[in-house]
Amino acid sequence: MTKNKLYYGDNLDVLRKHVKDESVDLCYIDPPFNSKRNYNQIYNNIGKEDAAQAQAFVDTWTWNMIANEGYDEIISNKNGVFTAQSISLIAGLSQVLGKGSLLAYLVSMTQRIAEIYRVLKPTGAFYLHCDPTASHYLKLVLDAIFCSQGGDFRNEIIWAYSGGGRPNEDFARKHDVILRYSKTDKVVFNADEIRVPYNLDIEKYKSPKAWGSHKGSDKSYAPNELGKIPEDWWLISPINSQSKERLGYPTQKPESLLERIIKASSNEGDVILDAYCGCGTTIAVAERLKRNWIGIDITYQSVSLIMKRLEESFGKSVLEKDVFTLSGIPQDFDSAVALANKQDDRVRKEFEKWFVLTYSNNRAIINDKKGGDGGIDGTAFMLDFDEQNKQELKKVLFSVKSSKKLSPSVIRDLAGVLDRENAAIGYLLTLYPMPNLAKEAAKYGTYQNKLVGHTYSKIEVVEVQQILDGKTMYLPTTIQVVKKAERKTQDNVTNDIFES
Ligand SMILES: C[S@@+](CC[C@H](N)C(=O)[O-])C[C@H]1O[C@@H](n2cnc3c(N)ncnc32)[C@H](O)[C@@H]1O
Repeated sequence: MTKNKLYYGDNLDVLRKHVKDESVDLCYIDPPFNSKRNYNQIYNNIGKEDAAQAQAFVDTWTWNMIANEGYDEIISNKNGVFTAQSISLIAGLSQVLGKGSLLAYLVSMTQRIAEIYRVLKPTGAFYLHCDPTASHYLKLVLDAIFCSQGGDFRNEIIWAYSGGGRPNEDFARKHDVILRYSKTDKVVFNADEIRVPYNLDIEKYKSPKAWGSHKGSDKSYAPNELGKIPEDWWLISPINSQSKERLGYPTQKPESLLERIIKASSNEGDVILDAYCGCGTTIAVAERLKRNWIGIDITYQSVSLIMKRLEESFGKSVLEKDVFTLSGIPQDFDSAVALANKQDDRVRKEFEKWFVLTYSNNRAIINDKKGGDGGIDGTAFMLDFDEQNKQELKKVLFSVKSSKKLSPSVIRDLAGVLDRENAAIGYLLTLYPMPNLAKEAAKYGTYQNKLVGHTYSKIEVVEVQQILDGKTMYLPTTIQVVKKAERKTQDNVTNDIFES
């Protein structure tokens, strides 16, 4: 049985190391765009080692060491994966564009699309979701990789929507571009799975006279009882503050968009790959439609959110060992130390996120505030009874420390924050064993959760080895970190597609 796989890491490494040639039926990707939009200024100061990871957060690219290496790889055709056309294209574009942000983005995409081409089956399709600022360049890259090896450009799909801000001096930009390519002409396309109603009185058109045809063409325009194949422009509501499926992830795509792509270009049991999977829309839809899937994301918050989404939508069994593997996370102490020591100048290190989210069973909210937070890296909420036996949510705080030595004052500091925040319990999560802190922590006694009758230490010190051994916290909660994903079944399908 094929296991579903979620990888935490840079998709270029993961594709190269873990995804076999011709093993994927359909690949959809929605990479960060090159729109010079910056999600968050705090991610601007990119360090060397984690440039790919930091890049994941910003929509703007810089020509740096990673870009230079990528460029050299393409020009020297490392591992023989690049076509002559893609090498000439990147060399030519460097003349035209210069070595700047746009070329850095195109180099990164060329490296990854070459791998995606390699892993696609001959019947496979590739959908690249982008925006009009880079779609024309990406089309050149795709042509150079696909068309030069027997593949083909099949569609430019326009996903049109409305809502959000509007400029005064331009037409409002309200569409994304999805480029669809096939690896060969044997590409899967399940027309009958995605038909939509004609907006016409079908009875009137039953007479062949009314069908119409182009001069010189013998194509049939007879209406199909099941409806028409949709046009290449799709009107689908985007995720907004009112959307039922909204998880609070900034670039979340609607399930109905992915549903159409997956139904059209794959069959039950096929393998779907999303190498930039974000909050896991492709994966959730693939699971619902009984496909196998491979997801890759470079940030632990995404990985954690995907696991939570899957569990809430399909139940715990979807993450059981015989059907699912999670790769790329620390498995032993040395790799936990390596993650903790990674140079990473964002506010919260990936190590801290991994630690807090894993220990809280993906229920905590990562604290993205810099300073003034008393060293708190994450917060969760647990359900309890108040004095009047009414249900209320109590705060649980997490503080991660990766130093080799810690003095008992860190416990006192944490106790001070618990007090100030009126929090029920606090966890000090340490990389190294800290037996000297247990005595200090014990001074703060216990906390009794009346709702579930569970006694917690008011402050508990948990070391990373315990998490590696499978320890997670018991957190009674109904309100989740992000809005609970709707429980998904085949019959509970969202349908926000508005055809004209
Ligand atoms: C636009 S979002 C995808 C949103 C997704 N389609 C959804 O509906 O949730 C892009 C994602 O790509 C991830 N990412 C960026 N660079 C990456 C890389 N080199 N390898 C793997 N993931 C990457 C980011 O962390 C982010 O989660």
